[in-house]
Amino acid sequence: MKVAFFTLLGFLFATAALASSSWNRSPQAIKRLYDELRAEEINRNQERLAPVKDRLLRKKSKFYNRKTKDFWVNGTRGAMPDVHFDIPESYAGLLPISVAKKEPRKLWFWFFPSTGGPETQDDLVVWLNGGPGCSSLEGLLQENGPFTWKYGTYLPVRNTYTWVNLTNMVWIEQPVGTGFSQGDPNITNEEELAEQFLGFMKNFVDKFGLHGKRIWLTGESYAGKYIPYIADAMLNRNDPKTFNFKGSMLYDPSIDEDLYLEEVPVVPYLMRNNAIFNFPEEEVASLKERADKCGFTDIYNQGLTFPPAGPLNTTLVPFKCQLWNEIFSRALKINPCFNIYHIMTTCPNLWDVLGFPGSFGYLPEGAKIYFARPEVQKAINAPPTKWEECSSRDVFVGGDKSEYPVPGGVLARVIERSERTVVAHGLLDFILIADGTLISLNNMVWGGKRGFSKKPSNKFVVPYERQGELGIWHEERGLTYIEVRLAGHMVPQYQPAAGYRHLEYLLGRVKDLSR
Ligand SMILES: *[C@@H]1O[C@H](CO)[C@@H](O)[C@H](O)[C@H]1NC(C)=O
Ligand SMILES: *[C@@H]1O[C@H](CO)[C@@H](O)[C@H](O)[C@H]1NC(C)=O
Ligand SMILES: *[C@@H]1O[C@H](CO)[C@@H](O)[C@H](O)[C@H]1NC(C)=O
Ligand SMILES: *[C@@H]1O[C@H](CO)[C@@H](O)[C@H](O)[C@H]1NC(C)=O
Repeated sequence: MKVAFFTLLGFLFATAALASSSWNRSPQAIKRLYDELRAEEINRNQERLAPVKDRLLRKKSKFYNRKTKDFWVNGTRGAMPDVHFDIPESYAGLLPISVAKKEPRKLWFWFFPSTGGPETQDDLVVWLNGGPGCSSLEGLLQENGPFTWKYGTYLPVRNTYTWVNLTNMVWIEQPVGTGFSQGDPNITNEEELAEQFLGFMKNFVDKFGLHGKRIWLTGESYAGKYIPYIADAMLNRNDPKTFNFKGSMLYDPSIDEDLYLEEVPVVPYLMRNNAIFNFPEEEVASLKERADKCGFTDIYNQGLTFPPAGPLNTTLVPFKCQLWNEIFSRALKINPCFNIYHIMTTCPNLWDVLGFPGSFGYLPEGAKIYFARPEVQKAINAPPTKWEECSSRDVFVGGDKSEYPVPGGVLARVIERSERTVVAHGLLDFILIADGTLISLNNMVWGGKRGFSKKPSNKFVVPYERQGELGIWHEERGLTYIEVRLAGHMVPQYQPAAGYRHLEYLLGRVKDLSR
């Protein structure tokens, strides 16, 4: 009876499919199509995605020893609250920022040895989130860690595109004042930040015997300001046993003034994306006129000329020129859940286990923040802390006095001494705009020349899951610029397979991002 019923049902569906194309949009049909595509993909990838053995067993690990055992995290299913599967071997805890006997200032880290093959063992990748004062656990839990818990989802899941497959990875909460880190912030600039970071890093490398590993610094947003300064300090130490710095990758980075990263590109951005912003046409036209009067249109056109004619002429006509703020406020009226980090977001605001799902912090009554839960803190050797994703105290006393890395020259100095530097930007990001990043890079002098000789236009292809073309990329004199479509500010969060590809490229495992 059951068989007959389903045969009949199948027949009806098949005829219906022929008879009406709208039937193909039924949830059942979409699910079937999805399952077919999925199965095809799994077969196709079987060879490429060779299974990697989780190294949970402490006995087998080269990192588990007398010095490190207090940092060991039990990754067995059920040990991490709400994580219903094993997570790879890892170590977490606090280490001081200097070798001083009673150093009260400590940074918190979570270290995952690579789960990949022998070719992945000699690299050490550091991930930093921005803010300033935002925790790198955001990256671990929502961007590139081995388990991931994204907005609006019920439980964490395994992350196929975790960077731990490709390298030894450490997520660090810094500077002092961020996340679980301990002590009082007293830095005022990026040089002091780098000094403290290197103090921590030396203790970390010594503790886990990571001497000589090729160090790659990666991060996003304000970490785009930290990283060039940290890299510069590492290179200046001239101590490759401890600080064998090789290169960096910056996502949607704060490398330059708001003028370039926000104001100059904002009106062209609005015009290009107005199907999403939904501003009335007259308003767009009037904003365009003001951008012209402010001199922004002129800077925009100069900045996106390849090769650049010379340094940008930024002589601005005195005019009311705070267009970015105005557009943001307007966007929030038209779309009350407008997300500054991902413009395609609409209401409702989603629950976020880290309490920050959109432009603002948001936590429904009764919900808890994962890393603020005492049982989670206990599981990861964190001190009892009222943990916040982004610190409410200032991590720089009186603000960060350093210049941004591009006008300050530190980014160029670092590129010139690196194997590779990657700057990637998500096209759905509004808080920092991709065109602005490109304008800034195109105005920078590195490797003896200013900017790029050609307009970036190579196809950036993501081979995994056959996503295909997902943006553009371009490389000159050791600097690679990548634009990622369908990604907001946190690129590996929105496009994890793209992020995985970027890391393969940074580490020199693939040379051509168009394949
Ligand atoms: C990463 O490793 C896991 C576990 O071995 C595997 O299932 C997954 O497919 C790998 N991801 C990629 C993109 O190769
Ligand atoms: C690790 O966690 C599992 C699951 O909770 C538990 O059974 C096991 O005893 C723990 N191992 C250690 C060494 O604490
Ligand atoms: C921060 O405090 C430490 C410890 O008291 C001190 O050694 C250091 O000089 C201070 N740094 C700054 C920039 O004030
Ligand atoms: C820079 O732009 C201003 C305003 O458009 C113009 O008056 C000035 O001549 C320009 N300077 C150079 C060096 O091109």
